[in-house]
Amino acid sequence: MTANVLAIDGPAGSGKSTTALAVAERLGFAHLDSGALYRAFTLAAIDAGLPLGAGARIAALVRTLPIRLVLGPQGFRPEVAGADVSEAVRRADVTAQVSAVSALPEVRAVANDLLREAAALHPRGVVVDGRDIGTVVFPEAPLKIYLSASAEARARRRLEQEGRAHDAGSVAEETRRLAARDRADAGRAIAPLRAAADAVALDTTDLSFEGQVDAIVELARNVFS
Ligand code: DC
Repeated sequence: MTANVLAIDGPAGSGKSTTALAVAERLGFAHLDSGALYRAFTLAAIDAGLPLGAGARIAALVRTLPIRLVLGPQGFRPEVAGADVSEAVRRADVTAQVSAVSALPEVRAVANDLLREAAALHPRGVVVDGRDIGTVVFPEAPLKIYLSASAEARARRRLEQEGRAHDAGSVAEETRRLAARDRADAGRAIAPLRAAADAVALDTTDLSFEGQVDAIVELARNVFS
């Protein structure tokens, strides 16, 4: 396994993926979005008509299709049976079901194998974002960041990013949706969302995007020199 893993964990909407991509570009590392992999599993299960609690069947499907992480210019992207699904994994039905699929132990075991294999392929290093990257997938990562922000700040950013209305009602509704996903991700029995004991906590509620990227790049330059 490559030793150069920068792990970024945090709740939905904390800006992990956009931050991880920007940090990876600045360091010359590849970005590896573990959430996109869980989304690809969910997409495949929905499209195959599998019941979403069928862990062993979903794990078998994922291996036979197969679902892979392929290195491109923007980092690793998920492919299902050779097709790039980076866009399709953002579908609303996938977002609604992904917490349930990612709670299945058989599914997590396959995901962890794929993530470790992908990371080992990159000669320079990887910035991996998710929920359990620093705690379970790469517990030896030399640098772990735990990104957080208030649920309301995350909701507002998400609506702005997606060009949707961000009046008080929409922000309140998105805040509720994010809080429900936080509860599902933090409350599950296996690999719950939590900060690793040795993670650097970064609350981005009052930080600009550039500010949070700069802060992580500076930490990384000291660790991966
Ligand atoms: O970061 P995201 O919203 O794309 O993640 C999608 C889902 O996948 C999220 O509900 C939690 C799950 N996930 C996980 O369980 N473990 C990870 N390492 C990454 C994501």
